[in-house]
Amino acid sequence: MFQVNENYLKLPGSYLFSNIGKKVAAYKAANPSKEVISLGIGDVTQPLVPAIIEALHKAVDEQAVAETFRGYAPDLGYEFLRNTIAENDYKKRGCDISADEIFVSDGAKSDSGNIQEIFAQNNKIAVCDPVYPVYVDTNVMAGRTGTYNPTTEQWSDVIYMPCTADNGFAPELPKGKTPDVIYLCFPNNPTGSTVTKAQLQEWVDYANKNGSVIIYDAAYEAYISEDNVPHSIYECEGARTCAIELRSFSKNAGFTGVRLGFTVIPKELKSGDVTLHSLWARRHGTKFNGAPYIIQRAGEAVYSDAGKAQLKEQVGYYKENAKIIKEGLAGAGYTVYGGVNAPYIWLKTPDQMTSWEFFDFLLEKGNIVGTPGSGFGPSGEGYFRLTAFGTHENTKKAIERIKAL
Ligand SMILES: Cc1ncc(COP(=O)(O)O)c(C=O)c1O
Repeated sequence: MFQVNENYLKLPGSYLFSNIGKKVAAYKAANPSKEVISLGIGDVTQPLVPAIIEALHKAVDEQAVAETFRGYAPDLGYEFLRNTIAENDYKKRGCDISADEIFVSDGAKSDSGNIQEIFAQNNKIAVCDPVYPVYVDTNVMAGRTGTYNPTTEQWSDVIYMPCTADNGFAPELPKGKTPDVIYLCFPNNPTGSTVTKAQLQEWVDYANKNGSVIIYDAAYEAYISEDNVPHSIYECEGARTCAIELRSFSKNAGFTGVRLGFTVIPKELKSGDVTLHSLWARRHGTKFNGAPYIIQRAGEAVYSDAGKAQLKEQVGYYKENAKIIKEGLAGAGYTVYGGVNAPYIWLKTPDQMTSWEFFDFLLEKGNIVGTPGSGFGPSGEGYFRLTAFGTHENTKKAIERIKAL
């Protein structure tokens, strides 16, 4: 008789966004005449820009001709894409990353979930609290997190780093237990916070001193507006020996449905004599058959002059939404964070409401969907996340509704 991976049974409840989806579906079924606006899940609403569409069409046509047809892509990604990433995202920012340290993938969710596979079972992970749920849940599935305490909503073998208003939503260096693998995400989902280059340097120094590895999720890099906020962890000295960086094309270029991302692993990042680069290359080669040629050509267009100009405008569109939400809510008396270097606004729930109470209140009274902060971890209780990925029209309408509550 087969047996299931019992680690899956340890996962508490179902995935946050499934719960939200069920609640919203039930509300809509009971109130079919109500127009519900979603500022909940972090999915984009604007179409792919013309430079990307053009590249997609061209690549599709190439697939129709024997001479230009492409089958399996190279495991680690086409050189045309890896070269342009190395040049634009790294060399131009003064970061020493070469094309052969870049692994092209189908997105940062898979990479952030799969990366734990190359670490030993007994490695201790540290995460921010609140946090993008994928980091912890995939370690639970791998049996690395110990036992779950439903009261504290914490796993016995995970080091939690609370990110609260008191510390500016920036984690403090762990005291006591030393983590082996540290997940950091800046600009942050869900709090919309960032760290300065000097703050990130402290993490790099800590990791190098303690033999830890940092998995740095920079999926929201395109939203950085302030000068002292690093775009890549490799802007910090010594990051090549302690950091892996994850990037996505979802939020800077609207690829949520197209799917493309990449992971950077510098060759100096080692455990003893073993490079993590070699392990991830082996993993990629064994379990992944490459992102589609057509999509990688679309990714290349993100870095063309036309692509850059069009995407600056598109990201600007969402940033404008963030401003509308932040200023609108602050004007209505809410305490709001984030929204300056990130497409997320993190607000304190009013009147001591719990995150889920505020979710129900907003859905029922304002017909607006957001994300309860507690879904991202216990320190998210009493907070709520709104995203700037809606249309201008819906964003403005939603804020007017919230103001009128
Ligand atoms: C922090 C973070 N990392 C990764 C992802 C997933 O990105 P992708 O669409 O590339 O899988 C998300 C998506 O919301 C995210 O918030």
